[in-house]
Amino acid sequence: MTDDGLVDLVAAARAALTHAYAPYSGFRVGAAVRGASGAVYAGCNVENASYPVSMCAERGAIAAAIVAGETVLEAVAVVTAQGDPCAPCGMCRQALSEFGPDMEVLLAADDGRVVRSRLAALLPDAFGPAMLAQPQGRPNGGGR
Ligand code: THU
Repeated sequence: MTDDGLVDLVAAARAALTHAYAPYSGFRVGAAVRGASGAVYAGCNVENASYPVSMCAERGAIAAAIVAGETVLEAVAVVTAQGDPCAPCGMCRQALSEFGPDMEVLLAADDGRVVRSRLAALLPDAFGPAMLAQPQGRPNGGGR
């Protein structure tokens, strides 16, 4: 991706952050993913009074991309409103991996710091679709 593309992706995540709904944790997150088409899709965290129902920003962005018809994601940007740049949680790493196992990752803090990484570094030896295509053991086969 070009540097301009990366800057735009971080800007989209930063814009999404302004809509974060995080009254319980106070930890506001914005994310944006870039699809293979070049289009950018944003998400923010959406918390809930029933805490486990809460949704991370990254998975919101992924859902927006998929519903728009994207199937391959090239990059993700995550922006937090406080503290150090924050890496995606484990569930979001797995969710991102489905659509771009080695996508570019940009982690940005509110003060402008940006850390650059790749998803394969954040989630080595990822579980993926190829695992499901392997021959399966017998159902109820005694656990072997
Ligand atoms: N959160 C995200 O949106 N993305 C992450 O990768 C880490 C955590 C949100 C979930 C919750 O709303 C808040 O941050 C605190 O965990």
